[in-house]
Parts: sequence; structure tokens; C-alpha cells
Amino acid sequence: MPATSLEVSNLSAGYGPTRILESISFSVPAGRRLAVLGRNGMGKSTLLATLAGQTRRYDGKIMVGGVDISSAPSAARAHAGIGYVPQTRDVFPSLTVEENLTVGLKGRQKDAIDEAYAMFPRLRERHRNLGSQLSGGEQQMLTTARTILGRPSVLLLDEPLEGLAPVICEELMAAFSELAGSGDMTILLVEQRIQSALDFADEVIVLERGRIAWSGTPSALSQDQDAVERLLGVGGLH
Ligand SMILES: Nc1ncnc2c1ncn2[C@@H]1O[C@H](COP(=O)(O)OP(=O)(O)OP(=O)(O)O)[C@@H](O)[C@H]1O
Ligand SMILES: [Mg+2]
Repeated sequence: MPATSLEVSNLSAGYGPTRILESISFSVPAGRRLAVLGRNGMGKSTLLATLAGQTRRYDGKIMVGGVDISSAPSAARAHAGIGYVPQTRDVFPSLTVEENLTVGLKGRQKDAIDEAYAMFPRLRERHRNLGSQLSGGEQQMLTTARTILGRPSVLLLDEPLEGLAPVICEELMAAFSELAGSGDMTILLVEQRIQSALDFADEVIVLERGRIAWSGTPSALSQDQDAVERLLGVGGLH
């Protein structure tokens, strides 16, 4: 599937009766990259989960490639091209690495798994190991690789760098950039490593208590010391 646009308007959502997101609106053109930033507990994961259909939506609209998926269940959203890598890793513990990847193929030929191994050589080395035997970082790689193998048109990544060594982070960000750059995927990235996120993204939104408190380009955010300090809680970006 080629990349598609994502348009979110006036989205409010939460868990049961607990409202978390309020009136979120933004759009990402096909093949572009959006970073979603904010302090802990501000609603970043809830936003991605809501786009994937895993929370309760109270109001608002979600359009993927011009198709309204607001009321679609999560399986139908996956079918519409949404690929979601949740912050809580999602590995099948009793399946091997290779079997876990096979689950992500969604009808593609088995040799497509080589794409995952090219992106994560570590997974090739451990292809016979069970999911339960992987380190945290390896589970993270496996979850990400399995989702990408399904070739989503909109990829939602929730802190994909968490627990990974710096050298792997750089390789992974380069791989994500390539996916977006080739026009294959529109990518939303939630990341605590702010500089990595800003280097990657075309546009940024910053959440504060479930609302968009800031939006603009990475360079504009880097120059807005007040916003960086107030909304991200860091002293400054280089
Ligand atoms: N399943 C849930 N049920 C009820 N409330 C939840 C649930 N998951 C998260 N919340 C609440 O929703 C709010 C936003 O949480 P969320 O996980 O979206 O934040 P976040 O920005 O991703 O934080 P972090 O940076 O720590 O991952 C928090 O107040 C959290 O306690
Ligand atoms: Mg989170």
C-alpha cells in the first residue's frame, strides 16, 4: 500500500468515562512525518491508540486517505492501512522470532521476512528463539519489524527507541526516514528522545493534558525555548 494522508479533526477520546484527549485536530500529508511530543501522561499513547481504534472515541473524525474510519473497529483500521506499534511490546511469547514475523506478513510471500532481517540483523541471529527469550530491546525490534512487514500506509510508532542502544537507534531512525522518504508510509512518531524526533519529523505537535499545546516545524520548536522548557521539561535543545 502506498502512503496515505491522515486527517484528524476535533477528536475527543478516553477510557470508559475518563476523558483524556480533547479536541485534537491535525493533518499529515501522504508520506510525511509527524512527531508527537509531550511530558509523561499527557496523552501521546492515548492518541496513537485512539487512531488504532483501541480507546473510546466521544467525538471527532479520523480520515485515512480520504476514507472516514472514525467508527471502524481496530481490525478494519488495520485493513485500511493503519499499522500500530504500541508502547507495551506485543510479542507472541511462545512463538519463535520467525513465527512472530510470519504473523505480520498479511498474505505477503515468506521471503519478505528478509526485509525485517535487513532492518534488524539481530533478529536474524535470533530467529529460532522464542519471543519470551528476547531482551526488551529485541522485543521492541520484533514488534516494529512485524508491523512494518504488513506494509501499512500510516505507521504509528510509540517510543520505538525505548531500550535500544544508541547505534541501533540511529540505524532505526534512518530506516524509518527511508520508509517515509520513499513515499511508502506516513509516519507518526511518539518519542522521548526529543532531538531524534525533531531530526526525523517534518512537523511536530506537543500535547499537554490531552490537548495540542504547540504545533509547528522542528526548527521552530528548537528556537522556542519557552515552549521547550514548559511543555517538554528540558532545559534546551542544541
Ligand atoms: N487504560 C487506561 N485507563 C484509564 N486511564 C488511562 C489508561 N491508559 C492511560 N490512562 C491515563 O491517560 C492519561 C494519558 O496517558 P498516556 O499513556 O496517553 O500518556 P503518554 O503521554 O503516552 O505518557 P508516557 O510518556 O508516560 O508514555 C494518563 O493520565 C493515564 O493515566
Ligand atoms: Mg506513552
